[in-house]
Amino acid sequence: MIHVASLLHDDVLDDADTRRGIGSLNAVMGNKLAVLAGDFLLSRACVALASLKNTEVVSLLATVVEHLVTGETMQMTTTSEQRLSMEYYLQKTYYKTASLISNSCKAIALLAGQTAEVSILAFDYGKNLGLAFQLIDDVLDFTGTSSSLGKGSLSDIRHGIVTAPILFAIEEFPELRPIVDRGFDKPGDVDLALDYLGRSRGIQRTRELAQKHANLASSAIDSLPDNDDEDVQISRRALVELTQRVITRNK
Ligand code: FPP
Ligand code: MG
Repeated sequence: MIHVASLLHDDVLDDADTRRGIGSLNAVMGNKLAVLAGDFLLSRACVALASLKNTEVVSLLATVVEHLVTGETMQMTTTSEQRLSMEYYLQKTYYKTASLISNSCKAIALLAGQTAEVSILAFDYGKNLGLAFQLIDDVLDFTGTSSSLGKGSLSDIRHGIVTAPILFAIEEFPELRPIVDRGFDKPGDVDLALDYLGRSRGIQRTRELAQKHANLASSAIDSLPDNDDEDVQISRRALVELTQRVITRNK
């Protein structure tokens, strides 16, 4: 519910037309109702969370909501130095995407009565899965089509948002820097940036970084305490498989 609430608000901020292959709520019903729908889901999530009567879990998920807003704000209000910084991009990516998954994984471990050690591994799994997921999302924004993604493609660059593929491309083509610096604002900037990106290893290096995080997520599962229970083994295999699926997905 928190995830969907954040997407409803995100589509207002991004002025999106489509989401999951159909008209986005803001496009169909207008911004005001889309914001309220997000608020409604968020409040329902709070009610459900409170009913768990676990203050640590409430605190983790409250932090997630704070991080979602922080990540989105970081993306919207960059200085030119921050726009060119991989460190800033990765921190924003943690807040925007990986915090929800990492803290949710940790919350599940705590609710299941697991040890602090297991809850940290669960957090590490979610964090690295989330980072891998968003890195591939940022690749797909360039390589996917609107119909394959079910949402607009090239949305980031058209909004002046700089993601990993472009940051890696700048290392090979410093000529890209002024274009990025002015937020792809001049006519022809987007096409020029795409041309540089196409000639660089930006997409490939982003995929490699995503794979590194997928491998770290997988290692967190392998580090869980030994357990021969067949259901546990099946669940762990599924979690490891998920780390590869976020890499190989094309939508
Ligand atoms: C999608 O990013 C957006 C997010 C992962 C987070 C959005 C968070 C907010 C709008 C803050 C408000 C939060 C709550 C809890 C109501 P994207 O635009 O890169 O992905 P997309 O291509 O799927 O749109
Ligand atoms: Mg968006």
